[in-house]
Amino acid sequence: MAERNSSLSLSILRRASSLFCWFSITSLILLVSCFFVLRSPWRPSLSNHIVSNVVGYSNPNVGVFRGECSAGNKHVLKVFMYDLPPEFHFGILDWKPQGSSVWPDIRKTVPHYPGGLNLQHSIEHWLTLDLLFSQHSGNNSSRIALRVHNSSEADVVFVPFFSSLSYNRFSRVKKEEKISRDKLMQDRLVKYLEAQEEWKRSGGVDHIILAHHPNSLSYARNQLWPAIFVLSDFGRYPLNLANVNKDIIAPYRHVIKSFDNDTSTFDSRTILLYFQGAIHRKDGGVIRQELFNRLKDEKDVHFAFGSVQHGGINNATLGMHSSKFCLNIAGDTPSSNRLFDAIASHCVPVIISDDIELPFEDVIDYSEFSIFVSNSDAVKEKFLINLINGIKREEWTRMWNKLQQVKRYFEFRYPSRDNDAVQMIWRTVAHKVPAIKLKLHRSRRFSHSTEARDPLQFMVSRNFW
Ligand SMILES: *[C@@H]1O[C@H](CO)[C@@H](O)[C@H](O)[C@H]1NC(C)=O
Ligand SMILES: *[C@@H]1O[C@H](CO)[C@@H](O)[C@H](O)[C@H]1NC(C)=O
Ligand SMILES: *[C@@H]1O[C@H](CO)[C@@H](O)[C@H](O)[C@H]1NC(C)=O
Ligand SMILES: *[C@@H]1O[C@H](CO)[C@@H](O)[C@H](O)[C@H]1NC(C)=O
Ligand SMILES: *[C@@H]1O[C@H](CO)[C@@H](O)[C@H](O)[C@H]1NC(C)=O
Repeated sequence: MAERNSSLSLSILRRASSLFCWFSITSLILLVSCFFVLRSPWRPSLSNHIVSNVVGYSNPNVGVFRGECSAGNKHVLKVFMYDLPPEFHFGILDWKPQGSSVWPDIRKTVPHYPGGLNLQHSIEHWLTLDLLFSQHSGNNSSRIALRVHNSSEADVVFVPFFSSLSYNRFSRVKKEEKISRDKLMQDRLVKYLEAQEEWKRSGGVDHIILAHHPNSLSYARNQLWPAIFVLSDFGRYPLNLANVNKDIIAPYRHVIKSFDNDTSTFDSRTILLYFQGAIHRKDGGVIRQELFNRLKDEKDVHFAFGSVQHGGINNATLGMHSSKFCLNIAGDTPSSNRLFDAIASHCVPVIISDDIELPFEDVIDYSEFSIFVSNSDAVKEKFLINLINGIKREEWTRMWNKLQQVKRYFEFRYPSRDNDAVQMIWRTVAHKVPAIKLKLHRSRRFSHSTEARDPLQFMVSRNFW
């Protein structure tokens, strides 16, 4: 058929005198041949494919439309939170339940979250507190997320497992244990979730699961991946378990003190470029060492190995508050809290991490206050130092001003307010709701037939990811 078409068009072409004629006739031939392809009985799979794609494309519009409508009307994300036993959350903080509730009465006391490096991944604490608080706040008008007790009315289902803390505290296998308590918890979580009506109903796609520490949830992620993960980066995840479309990147809680009432200037910040971090990193170690060799003798550069903890947080705070630029070099994972320490210090981040994903990037344009340098450029002779030296007072001051505007997005607060990190994370979750609804509604098309009793299996079989 293709041969016949081409010889036909050739002969027509010879005779046709105007370009217009040529165009309209080829278009006509294209249409006619499409018609034949679609109708031809010996290619049923192709035509089915095209038709189902067409249907697939009209349905999303309906899904998105509905999602936006309901979000627009209510202005609040309705979150159902499982009443997980305390050992999964505040129990890890040595909180003991009083009475029958699995939750602390936060009007009386808020369990203390440990400081130091634990704090980096403390989003689990802040988000859970915010949901608990949402029930007691008299004024809901500035709320982004509201806890609801009827899961049928919820937009998403929140799983309050403090996975990062569980990793930090329990991942090491103790003498008397065969497997670590962290793995036990994960196994129990999977069992718990798979028994819940809410999980069965959705296959998990409307569930929010926190795994901010890159090593947290290392076992359960293989079973719980249909859910939306809240992560620090995708460094330790294969694409099929987590990716930028399905999941959410949340900021680290900075460990450097926030620079309040910053009256510094380009000239008063005497350190040009600041880096304090570990060298003993697997993949990142190579580039760190190379950068160190390139930069160590440059004027006004502070480049030192050893963790911020060892040098003292106060010293690092002083260093970052006195620096114009702060380096963020990929470590063994693409992200680190150093970026958020830099933002809190109004020290213009210089990001050298090809695979980094950034939180809230749908709202925030990081290029307005950060410098991105590819790994390959960064290690070129003099490249980095020339780039930094080329940024003069005016441009730096513009970025410094911008940093002061955006830093509130990265502050974790209880109670949450004014687009702080807690509210921004909920906002990002809310943005996912239309896509969640779309997946769910599509999965229900055949809910009355034998196919797709299991929504997840159906979604996988239809390539919903
Ligand atoms: C705020 O939301 C909570 C939880 O739904 C509710 O109990 C409370 O009445 C609401 N407050 C106001 C002022 O609407
Ligand atoms: C509720 O909070 C909003 C924003 O924070 C404020 O504008 C409003 O006055 C508050 N309403 C009451 C009744 O406190
Ligand atoms: C939960 O919400 C659904 C949908 O709005 C409603 O049909 C159901 O009766 C509610 N269940 C309870 C226990 O209130
Ligand atoms: C910053 O300034 C405000 C008011 O100008 C003051 O209340 C606050 O204590 C200052 N903070 C610090 C850390 O100096
Ligand atoms: C504190 O920082 C300075 C440079 O900013 C460094 O020379 C000094 O060794 C640091 N102190 C500690 C204890 O790391």
